[in-house]
Amino acid sequence: MSDSLRYDGKVVVITGAGNGLGRSHALDFGARGAKVVVNDLGGGARGGGQSSAAADKVVEEIKALGGDAVVNYDSVEDGDKIVQTALDRFGTVDVVVNNAGILRDVSFQKMSLDDWKLILSVHLNGSFRVTHAAWPIMREKGYGRVIFTTSGAGIYGNFGQANYSAAKLGIYGLANTLAIEGRSKGILVNTIAPIAASRLTEAVLPPELLGSIKPEFITPLVTWLCHDSCRETGGLYELGASYFSKVRWERTRGHIFGADRTVKAEDVAAKWNKIVDFEDAEHPASVNDTFGAITQAINRKSLGGNEFIDLDAAFAATATVTSQYDERDLALYALGVGAGADPLDASDLPFVYEGDDRFTPLPSYAVMPPSSAVVARMKDGGNVLLGLNYGFDRVLHGEQYTEIRGPLPRSGKLTHTFRLKAAYDKKPHAVTVLAITSCDEQGNEVAYNEFTTFVRGAGGWGGERGPSGDINQPPARAPDAVIEEKTRSDQALLYRLSGDWNPLHADPSFAKAFGYDKPILHGLCTYGYVSRHVLKAMAGNDPRLFKSIKVRFAETVFPGETLVTKMWKEDGGRVIFETSVKERGKLVIRNAAAEIHGEAPQYRARPQAAPAEEQGVSSADVFSVIAAHIASHPDLVAATGTSFQFRLKNPASAWYIDLKSGNGSAGEGSLDGADVSIELDRALLHQVMTSSIPDIQKMYFGGKLKISGNVAASNKLAAVLSIDPALYEAARRRRAEATA
Ligand code: NAI
Repeated sequence: MSDSLRYDGKVVVITGAGNGLGRSHALDFGARGAKVVVNDLGGGARGGGQSSAAADKVVEEIKALGGDAVVNYDSVEDGDKIVQTALDRFGTVDVVVNNAGILRDVSFQKMSLDDWKLILSVHLNGSFRVTHAAWPIMREKGYGRVIFTTSGAGIYGNFGQANYSAAKLGIYGLANTLAIEGRSKGILVNTIAPIAASRLTEAVLPPELLGSIKPEFITPLVTWLCHDSCRETGGLYELGASYFSKVRWERTRGHIFGADRTVKAEDVAAKWNKIVDFEDAEHPASVNDTFGAITQAINRKSLGGNEFIDLDAAFAATATVTSQYDERDLALYALGVGAGADPLDASDLPFVYEGDDRFTPLPSYAVMPPSSAVVARMKDGGNVLLGLNYGFDRVLHGEQYTEIRGPLPRSGKLTHTFRLKAAYDKKPHAVTVLAITSCDEQGNEVAYNEFTTFVRGAGGWGGERGPSGDINQPPARAPDAVIEEKTRSDQALLYRLSGDWNPLHADPSFAKAFGYDKPILHGLCTYGYVSRHVLKAMAGNDPRLFKSIKVRFAETVFPGETLVTKMWKEDGGRVIFETSVKERGKLVIRNAAAEIHGEAPQYRARPQAAPAEEQGVSSADVFSVIAAHIASHPDLVAATGTSFQFRLKNPASAWYIDLKSGNGSAGEGSLDGADVSIELDRALLHQVMTSSIPDIQKMYFGGKLKISGNVAASNKLAAVLSIDPALYEAARRRRAEATA
């Protein structure tokens, strides 16, 4: 490529041009037609001495290339004299390249005042003096290009270069402001941070490297930045050995507390991860960008808070947790809250026996998956929600509200969405109300819960105290219904199997440490009891009629105590109630109410997802995995000696597993005279093939599948049930990828 970037008629002042980078720049500018002022004091690398030889030689070299140049031997500290040379000889200045430099490297500890002053004088003051002398000339003509030379040591710091890095970063600061002041006058200012072989680096860089990092690799950027056609200004570049790059500032998004709020060191510590998180960082380019953030902080009206509760963060946050349960969980929970205690009372059977046609969750089960989700989030010191920075050690379950918003499935996955509904400052304590909406797999809302938590020592931010809360007071008349029920002495041990593992409810020594004579009953276990009482007395034990329940936990209950729930029927399906412990006469649940539907509501369900056949593991996936398993286990035929026919419904299809003839096989189709025939819904096939024999028997007795032929031989199916369930999923994935 020809040298199309010309400098004909331009006057270029280059300081320290007798050696190294300055010389390389001078030769390039001279060769491109510029009139060059070759300045160099001709001293040593540490700043001593003076000689004209180096600068003279460069002038000769430029002239030999056919260019025009004049020499100047002044120190940059007398910058005006250098610029005067340009004026005397060429009548103007168009370009200044501030390049002259020396080193006085020494550790800060040993650095003398002279070391400090000299380096600042040559680099920072020298750059100032030369540029300051040229500035009015450039302003006058409305044209100028200025280059400053900084260093990686200035940008990042470097051991033994406190003086040098201070001067070099000072130079960058000078350049940034001159870029702003010069822009409207046509003066463009840029800064380079080079790496090149020169007498300044020959002692610090390995000799084998020096040959590859010629000063000539630095000059092209300087030449380009100083050209008429380049409009760049205010840039900072790192370069060397043919590498060219631009450097800019980066800033985290940070955190704004709100300028109307007191911020303590603890608040900063609590937000530290966010303050230093460079994910999605910004690149401020002017002080306006700084003021932008400050203005936001001034305008941000903070809701307040402290290191335990950051209301701004918490009210803005949501969190989603999924959980799963099955019929066993439902039955275990129902037993845990006292259902089925009377073997002669069949009205509890639908809650404890999955074989019952009406099997369904107890309505109060709707509190369990979200409460387990809360525990899961707070486990290992996690926050239940961003901004709620307290742990289990501070919390007491104060109140609970549960509302049924749709039919809870017998089993499946629920998704719980958390948000903070309210936070009250009960100085010195706090109360938070966490709202959790739970949806089924189709996205239908099935439950809504409010967990009201008393947080010890977390108040005092000057917020509202909240409602006094003396609601749901029982009327003066005698209760409309009373249920008395004794809890089991092992009730807490039974209930905890539903997922609240706090040793306070199991371990006597742990309970003692908390000031209790013995392990206490879980608040939510009592909640389950009183929900059942209301369900039984006010809704004829029909869970479809149960709409909502709200209680305040007033006192501890011990396993084995007798709960007495008094209920008053109010208008509009409302029930006021309270529960006390008979043995101690203490009110344990108060300010409580429930809502009962007059008739079972019709919930409008979202359309069901596409059939599992298309979405999940298909029948073909299942049987291809089984066929492969049989092929790799030839001994199965001898060990099992049984053939199975599967008749699937919805949609209908037939599949077989033959572990009787030949080496065994599996696939689609009918097998004449199969020993065992199994009939089931296609949607259940995957579940069956990943279950154990007892579970399959449970399905059989529960009417979910039919087994005919040699029913006892169905146990032999165990031979193919030990297949790693992940293989079915892998088969589905392969099929999905193949059809994609
Ligand atoms: P160099 O020592 O080869 O050239 C510097 C020139 O400046 C010398 O000829 C010296 O006589 C002259 N000089 C020193 N003090 C002066 C003064 N008061 N007035 C006039 N001239 C004076 O060094 P090099 O490497 O070419 O350095 C050029 C610039 O690049 C310096 O500012 C240096 O700090 C900077 N730099 C160099 C790096 C490198 O890797 N070579 C790294 C980072 C920055």
